Amino acid sequence: MNKKTVKDINVANKRVLLRCDLNVPLDENFKITDDTRINGALPTIDYLVEQGAKIVLCSHLGRPKGEVNPKFSLKPVADELKKRSYNIVFASDVIGEDAKAKAAALQNGEILLLENLRFHKEETDNDPEFAKALAEFADVYVNDAFGAAHRAHASTAGVAQYLPAVSGFLLQKELQVLGDMLENPKHPFVAIMGGAKVSDKIPVIKNLMNIADTIIIGGGMAYTFAKALGGKIGKSICEDDKIALALEIIGDAMEKNVRIVLPVDTVATKEFSNDSPAKVFSTRAIDDDYSGMDIGEKTREIFANDLRDAKTVIWNGPMGVFEFDNFAKGTFKIAKTLAELDDCMTIIGGGDSAAAVKKLGYGDKMGHISTGGGASLEFIEGKELPGVAALNDK
Ligand code: 3PG
Repeated sequence: MNKKTVKDINVANKRVLLRCDLNVPLDENFKITDDTRINGALPTIDYLVEQGAKIVLCSHLGRPKGEVNPKFSLKPVADELKKRSYNIVFASDVIGEDAKAKAAALQNGEILLLENLRFHKEETDNDPEFAKALAEFADVYVNDAFGAAHRAHASTAGVAQYLPAVSGFLLQKELQVLGDMLENPKHPFVAIMGGAKVSDKIPVIKNLMNIADTIIIGGGMAYTFAKALGGKIGKSICEDDKIALALEIIGDAMEKNVRIVLPVDTVATKEFSNDSPAKVFSTRAIDDDYSGMDIGEKTREIFANDLRDAKTVIWNGPMGVFEFDNFAKGTFKIAKTLAELDDCMTIIGGGDSAAAVKKLGYGDKMGHISTGGGASLEFIEGKELPGVAALNDK
């Protein structure tokens, strides 16, 4: 990476504004249900503590739309860090009196976590005054929020204009892994794309077509391809306005000698529920009153076989409605197959695929689980991430 990292500058005894992505899922009792992003932030936090920095930590949580809303408070994250023995205080505001007083009282090695940045609409507006107010907390800005690096917000991009700006270890690692995958992957390289919408994944598929040997397409987006190829897909999810694009992708793949692998069978139901009776159809001959919920058994085997010799795999998006146990088999089969691969760099592109891998207990069997679903997609598309572009060059 050609951007400075926290190791390239002196942070000892400095006041550091550290932007992390602590946007963790909470249940109705405000219990953190997945702490991956907190764990991902710790190497940089630990380093700054060791260096005796005074750390002003900040993040967004959810999308409170510029209004103070206790449902989106970062307090549970402060409590979690306290439980893990971090010397942390929590500010009840972002740039208000409480935050300022607590920041002024910080001692070396202590952490102040500010309240949710998105309680101010100026954050997502990338308002310069708000960015300046954040910068006033510190001598140095460290961005470790890979999950938010595709956002040009005050705390991810704007603030970098007012302070020396470097990356943290998590941001650096994510860029390294995804960058190596794009520039220097081992072959065979297999990409697995799933999820509901083709439209979300088109630019990614187009870019992957220049690198991957095989692109496996499952999940809801596969029905648009099935229809494009003349199939009957019943009531399955389909983006009719993307049918031409689906055909274009198939054409491009042929030209570039990339294999596109589509489902051959589908588990479908009449109702969108876990208990609705399921029937298996050929993916291109689904009855009119049925919609696809998961890939079928034959497809699961085909996809798994295509993965066996892979040396690099990127996976983004589930193979079916995996939140319903009865339709999670396809997604789980992919997770299990990846976990069993030897000598293969397996990269999980955040979001639902990461959740599936972790739910099955395969988290530590993967080469890399990205902490940013949207950010990793944009990076793989080949876009420059504003949160990275804003950092100082080496
Ligand atoms: C995410 O969950 O992908 C990141 O935290 C970014 O959140 P956002 O999509 O609300 O900007």
